Amino acid sequence: MQSKFKRILFGGDYNPNQWPEEIWKEDMTYFKEAHINSATINVFSWAKIQPSENVYDFSQLDKIVDMLSDENYDIVMATSTAALPAWMVKKYPETMSTDFEGRHHKFGGRHNFCPNSLVYQKYAKALATELAKRYGSNKNISVWHINNEYGGYCYCDNCQKQFRVWLKDKYKTINAVNEAWNTEFWGHTFYDWDEIVVPNQLSEEFLPDMTMFAGISIDYRRFYSDSMLNCYKMERDAIKEICPDAFITTNLMGTFKGLDYFKWAKEMDIVSWDNYPAYDTPWSMVAMTHDLMRGLKDEPFMLMEQTPSQQNWQKYNSLKRPGQMRAQSYQTVAHGADTIQFFQLRRSVGGCEKFHGAVIAHAGTNNTRVFRETAQLGKELESFGTKTLGSRSNSQVGIIFDWDNYWALEYTSGPTQDLKYVDQIHQYYEYFYNNNISVDMIPVDADFSKYKVIAAPVLYMIKDGMKEKLEKFVENGGTLITTFMSGIVNQSDNVYLGGYPGPLRKMAGVWVEEIDALAPEQSNTVRFADGTEYKCNLLCDLMHTEGAEVLASYESDFYAGMPAVTKNSYGKGKVYYVATQFEAAGLTKVLDEVTKESAVSGVIAEKTGLEITCRESDTTRFYFVMNFTDEEQVLPVSLAGKTDLITGETAKEGEVMKKWDVKILQEAL
Ligand code: GLA
Ligand code: ZN
Repeated sequence: MQSKFKRILFGGDYNPNQWPEEIWKEDMTYFKEAHINSATINVFSWAKIQPSENVYDFSQLDKIVDMLSDENYDIVMATSTAALPAWMVKKYPETMSTDFEGRHHKFGGRHNFCPNSLVYQKYAKALATELAKRYGSNKNISVWHINNEYGGYCYCDNCQKQFRVWLKDKYKTINAVNEAWNTEFWGHTFYDWDEIVVPNQLSEEFLPDMTMFAGISIDYRRFYSDSMLNCYKMERDAIKEICPDAFITTNLMGTFKGLDYFKWAKEMDIVSWDNYPAYDTPWSMVAMTHDLMRGLKDEPFMLMEQTPSQQNWQKYNSLKRPGQMRAQSYQTVAHGADTIQFFQLRRSVGGCEKFHGAVIAHAGTNNTRVFRETAQLGKELESFGTKTLGSRSNSQVGIIFDWDNYWALEYTSGPTQDLKYVDQIHQYYEYFYNNNISVDMIPVDADFSKYKVIAAPVLYMIKDGMKEKLEKFVENGGTLITTFMSGIVNQSDNVYLGGYPGPLRKMAGVWVEEIDALAPEQSNTVRFADGTEYKCNLLCDLMHTEGAEVLASYESDFYAGMPAVTKNSYGKGKVYYVATQFEAAGLTKVLDEVTKESAVSGVIAEKTGLEITCRESDTTRFYFVMNFTDEEQVLPVSLAGKTDLITGETAKEGEVMKKWDVKILQEAL
């Protein structure tokens, strides 16, 4: 359990190029006071460090790097390639992207370069190379940060050309493309590669996420994720060529739809991500996203960005209440972070982020609530030394998250427009969260044998090999839970003929004959064998058992009496099939049975409103105990007597934890 870091990195985005040098000294003084030991620099400085095509000017960056090195910072060095300099767009307009409506963009904005522009690639690679040459031997550079929040979309002619190359590589023949995309439908048959155009509003798509041919749209998502990844790899390789030991990341965005992060993570030395929950984001959703980011490599990750106080880009940018930022930071560490970094260290003077929170506010003083809270957290994290670094999470439950499924499910036309992938996954995650049962968010190619239970809600697309993997898991004694809208299509989005849920039908022991969609004002009721009843909505599978046991049935409509929840024995294991979307209590009823039967346990035995998440080092289990509820919570008895890593005090029986209170209780292993 080794961590790359020698201390918990605490700091964040630092853009001193945006303010006069006289202030830098003050920054250093304040940051020291706040126990800040790390700075992410050079994120948006391309215009400054390469003022024209053939000129690099690192004089200011040199000063910044020297200053931070003198203060022994862990520097996170970004490559600046996420926003283009004006000279580049003027001379090479093709470096900018073409949008969904087919409009080619002009200079401005960021995250809007065309990943398939050879000119962009050439200059991005050259810049990464120059930076590596200049700073590669600096021992204070702990992490290289490529680009920034890869995202955006492009439908330009270069992308179109490259898409055809990607397709040729994947399908070899045009007939194979026609077959994969089922182009017989509406007679969209291609005779030649150059007839294939990008799927946007000018062709197959009519709104973002609405398509007439899911096959091409899903392939374009895959292609685009690969295109961006190629840009990342190109810069990464340029840096590694000069400094082979460089430790390289790029900051991801949680459940961001555009990029297949499991594929990306394989190319990253460490995962880092930016966490910006809104005022009303459930804490279970934040926890799930952390678990997903940890799951990408099944390793601790970096929190690259969060705001110390408020965002500027959400609808309502409420302040983090006193104690909230601290609790949120500990939740992040609890789920696997080895760093806590902010966007940003000092507030911008102008531009659209001047209302974005920062450690140093516009008042330019350390005499603020936000500064004091940051400093307190910094002090606490510093006091942990290396104790928590590299420690791991241990889960008996895995939840499958898969970008192909995310794309495919949300491209479906019908049965309902309200089906959202992340929301469906979260409903299942939330149960485990509420019961303090640790969960790993896993890819379809994970090692399933580690888990007692695998939940695979809305596993719509079953790609090659998945059926066999899932069957083996269940045969060997695992429990699989799956739901409506599962087992429907193959990796090209063509339906498995012979009845839903296709490849899962045998192991689930059910056949789904029809799928009813319920409008928001409609619902049905599901009745369990013990007489309890729960509401359900959204979608209702009308299904027949083929060997499965019926646990609950619909109460109303013409399908009253048909099964709504089933359980099938398969090999040594079980498959649960949940045919509809339950109100939370109904899903709890089902999952209580699943966890009981498969002997899955929470991190402590008691029920509590506290969030309790564990990490384990070689010697210690850390219980992160946090109160995110509005009510006071009593510390569970089983945790009394353990020593708090933060205060050094022993937790007492009956102790009350207020909202945002945190303890990290230690147990020797
Ligand atoms: C993103 C970006 C940052 C900044 C923050 C503001 O995460 O990476 O540059 O714009 O948002 O929340
Ligand atoms: Zn393009």
